[in-house]
Amino acid sequence: MATPLTIQKPMLFKICLLLFSVTTIATKDAASATVGPIFIFGDSIVDVGTNNYLKNCTAQVNHPYYGVDYPHSIATGRFSNGLNPADCVVALLGGYKESPPPFLALLAHSSNLTGDLLHGVNFASGGAALVKGVRKQVVGNVVSYEEQIQQFATVNGNITALLGKSKGQLLIQGSMYIICVGSNDIVNYVFSHPTTPEVFIANITAIYAIHLKNLYNLGARKFGIMGVPPLGCCPISRAISGGACTKEINDVASAFYTSLKSLLKNLSSTLEGFKYSLANSYNMTMSVIENPPTGFKDVKTPCCGNHPLAGINDCMEGGYLCPKRDNHLFWDAFHPSEAASKLAARVLVFGEDPNFVTPINFSTLRKA
Ligand SMILES: *[C@@H]1O[C@H](CO)[C@@H](O)[C@H](O)[C@H]1NC(C)=O
Ligand SMILES: *[C@@H]1O[C@H](CO)[C@@H](O)[C@H](O)[C@H]1NC(C)=O
Ligand SMILES: *[C@@H]1O[C@H](CO)[C@@H](O)[C@H](O)[C@H]1NC(C)=O
Ligand SMILES: *[C@@H]1O[C@H](CO)[C@@H](O)[C@H](O)[C@H]1NC(C)=O
Ligand SMILES: *[C@@H]1O[C@H](CO)[C@@H](O)[C@H](O)[C@H]1NC(C)=O
Ligand SMILES: *[C@@H]1O[C@H](CO)[C@@H](O)[C@H](O)[C@H]1NC(C)=O
Ligand SMILES: *[C@@H]1O[C@H](CO)[C@@H](O)[C@H](O)[C@H]1NC(C)=O
Repeated sequence: MATPLTIQKPMLFKICLLLFSVTTIATKDAASATVGPIFIFGDSIVDVGTNNYLKNCTAQVNHPYYGVDYPHSIATGRFSNGLNPADCVVALLGGYKESPPPFLALLAHSSNLTGDLLHGVNFASGGAALVKGVRKQVVGNVVSYEEQIQQFATVNGNITALLGKSKGQLLIQGSMYIICVGSNDIVNYVFSHPTTPEVFIANITAIYAIHLKNLYNLGARKFGIMGVPPLGCCPISRAISGGACTKEINDVASAFYTSLKSLLKNLSSTLEGFKYSLANSYNMTMSVIENPPTGFKDVKTPCCGNHPLAGINDCMEGGYLCPKRDNHLFWDAFHPSEAASKLAARVLVFGEDPNFVTPINFSTLRKA
């Protein structure tokens, strides 16, 4: 058993010192510093509004109560009451107040696109999976993980065009690549069971490897990877099972973590300069569920949506909204609350426990 997720006082002090020094580095002129911007890829856990720009996409949350705790209560498209894990992580890494904007928002609104690209981009799209289109019947059109990397290839070209080849590559290599994907593949798997769990996990791990190598070939070196949480304990799974966590789903999620860990170890020993940090979202979430830290009163039911276990994703205005968002682990049937995202971000950015983040934490990776 790992230690519960609490941050001790002396550690908080260290965090403040560290935040200060990281911020100093990150706010220097991006092109001349070794610490470049942050690029984010993945699914709804880290989407900051990509899906608002898509036609025929049903995985859209640009309506209340989403965003109820975001400044001015704006529903930005984040699958959260406020900030999501991507926001909380980049804020702690320094140089950011929240996640850089969605690529599609920059395309739609920017009058200085290349200038904005130098400050980082978020490509994540709710419903995205390692296997392209795997949940299309449920979520409609989303930007698959593969397409997100193609979009980054375009951005990479734009940055090189702007800064020149050598400065551009230095920036790309000094940047951090945060990736959170795999949950939608697992959800689809447990509903369809096309093959054994072993074959399924080998397949999605192989797809992950292809895309990590593609990113590496584009110049990416620092990979901050978030694993898949115990999906069998999210409110929708509990609702379907009648209250308990679904062991089968959790076993697949946990096995995927083990496989991903092995993949990353292999890649770092075969690809020169490949550095990574792997967040064990499975363990982190389990630890909060089994041993709720001070402040977390409800680690089972969604804050928003029909209470307590309606079983559908029904967070909307006029429906149930819990009075104290901060004491819930889950915001809706699938996604963490802002409070949970903040807690997880502290652990993966500054943590020292290899049960939660390994082999180094995100702040060490950022400066590597
Ligand atoms: C959206 O769905 C409608 C109806 O299924 C279809 O006619 C249309 O081509 C789709 N649009 C896009 C952009 O996929
Ligand atoms: C575009 O952004 C870059 C980087 O922030 C900046 O250096 C440049 O002056 C901007 N150009 C315009 C026309 O605003
Ligand atoms: C970025 O690169 C793409 C592909 O080369 C190009 O079509 C686009 O115009 C570029 N955008 C900017 C702002 O330079
Ligand atoms: C993974 O499985 C899909 C079918 O579900 C298949 O099309 C694809 O080729 C497989 N990919 C790898 C890398 O094994
Ligand atoms: C990593 O390498 C080991 C040793 O070659 C191999 O057994 C294992 O399957 C690899 N893991 C992945 C996920 O590719
Ligand atoms: C964390 O993961 C390791 C193996 O990956 C396991 O042995 C350990 O029990 C887990 N801890 C928690 C708190 O789940
Ligand atoms: C992060 O990891 C580094 C290296 O493992 C460790 O020294 C440090 O204490 C960890 N925490 C912080 C806050 O940097």
